[in-house]
Amino acid sequence: MSVKNMDFFTQNITVKNAVACALNRSIFSLFEDSNRVENLSLSATSLHLDYSKQNITKPELSHLISWAEGCNLPQHIKSMFSGDKINNTEQRAVLHTVLRAPLSVKHEILGKEAVEVEQAEQYMAQIVDDVCAGKLTGITGDKFTDVLAIGIGGSYYGIKVGLSALHPYHSTGLKVHVLANVDGAAVTEKLEILKAATTLVVIISKTFTTQETLLNAKAIKAWMLAELDDNKAIAKQWYAVSSNIEKAQSFGLDASNILPMWDWVGGRFSLWSAVGLPLALAIGNQHFAELKAGAYAMDQHFQTASFDKNMPVLMALIGMWNRNALNYPSLAVLPYDHALRALPGYLQQTDMESNGKSVSKQGEKLNWVTAPIVFGQEGTNGQHAFMQLMHQSDEIIPTDFIVALQGTSDLTEHHKVLVANCLAQSEALMQGKDLATVQKELIAGGASKEEVSRLASHKTMKGNTPSNTLLMQSLTPSCLGAILALYEHKIFVQGVLWQVNSYDQWGVELGKQLSTQVLEIMNGQTVDKTQMSPSSIKLIETFIQKQSVN
Ligand code: F6P
Repeated sequence: MSVKNMDFFTQNITVKNAVACALNRSIFSLFEDSNRVENLSLSATSLHLDYSKQNITKPELSHLISWAEGCNLPQHIKSMFSGDKINNTEQRAVLHTVLRAPLSVKHEILGKEAVEVEQAEQYMAQIVDDVCAGKLTGITGDKFTDVLAIGIGGSYYGIKVGLSALHPYHSTGLKVHVLANVDGAAVTEKLEILKAATTLVVIISKTFTTQETLLNAKAIKAWMLAELDDNKAIAKQWYAVSSNIEKAQSFGLDASNILPMWDWVGGRFSLWSAVGLPLALAIGNQHFAELKAGAYAMDQHFQTASFDKNMPVLMALIGMWNRNALNYPSLAVLPYDHALRALPGYLQQTDMESNGKSVSKQGEKLNWVTAPIVFGQEGTNGQHAFMQLMHQSDEIIPTDFIVALQGTSDLTEHHKVLVANCLAQSEALMQGKDLATVQKELIAGGASKEEVSRLASHKTMKGNTPSNTLLMQSLTPSCLGAILALYEHKIFVQGVLWQVNSYDQWGVELGKQLSTQVLEIMNGQTVDKTQMSPSSIKLIETFIQKQSVN
């Protein structure tokens, strides 16, 4: 498939006409088709997707589906699940899905490596059981009360979203904390609440070279050794999850306390591996198994459902319709659920670090745009932050609303208001309010002619913002697993069709290289600054001067 397949949006006359039509119609008018809601809604596993507020018709969607089939999407899906090295720049398979599949599938796909995977899973579950039973304790013999997970990016976000989303399922009594940012304030904040003798530390780093994680681990190690005054504390109270066993051991970890990460599991897709250990220590093995089972159910749906009834494929194609046909640059992810407040951040990495690229898998410059700018926060907070722009700027921002029919608190009135706001916002973004309606409302409200002419235009709203509403009965471990897998597969499909490698992240390398150079200058080392801008040099000098004053 050459890099021309996106001509579909620019050369295909039927699609070009459909795009012109879509850009000149109101989404609301599409509901004249009384079957629209039924035809543009889909249930799969524990989720229900209403995509009828999208600016698309069934025939237009059918064109997209035919195009996807013509791009060999079915073969690409088989290729990923069967372990082909689809991460071509790193020559790696992409098999995080195997981690949540039954043992038989593990053996079928991984062969003898399945034994190691199964052993790692069993070991992880054993650690959880032994910590909870008090068989594994701190160096002083005290039971663990707290767990500190040190990691960043994919070695952080999955745990973070799991801990907050599944707060009602925290069943072990262990308090699990995450430390990601390299800001010392983040470290001191944790040390204010942790006791060295009863803290289990899990360092998570696939490469075991990530600057932030290693510096944080070093600070926590120094703190623990100072508090406990016993060098054996690290070997006893620390675990690592990494593919770099040698570096983990040289940090002082006991070989038996290092759980594996395989090169066929990308960081941002690694929650299903031993990276999930801190989460399992909070919610217990059974709930962690349910999380994986929910994701596996979505894997099965993704692999078997015809594309017209395939939730990840439909979300992917609609996302590309919005991005590449209607040219909307962003995607707002608005979970109307306090427990899902970390989901937008998680999806920023999953989506933007996977598909935020402009070169094809073959290294050719793409002449189309790819991943949207993903942002969001939990509702209703977003309504008091950025929804003004979404309603009244000229930017049309496609939105994913995510909401549970049943809340996790006893405050049913609160939940009703939360859901009402979610549904109202999707309606308001779609309907907007035109000038005539505003004028009529102002007059009906007793406004004078002068007030109507002064205020009316300020109160109009553009509307025509497309959205998905993803419903679930309640936010269970299984539902969370299905949601995360749904987005993983949506992003996979878009990567295939955009022809990018969704599984490398070379774009993060330059920043790492330059931060090393900046640090060397700050440390007074001789560095060739000719390549650095006068701005950065001046800023570094200011920092150095400030340090010398303090
Ligand atoms: O953000 C860049 C990245 O490489 C992510 O892909 C990864 O999840 C994160 O940094 C942490 O990497 P590691 O797990 O190797 O510390």
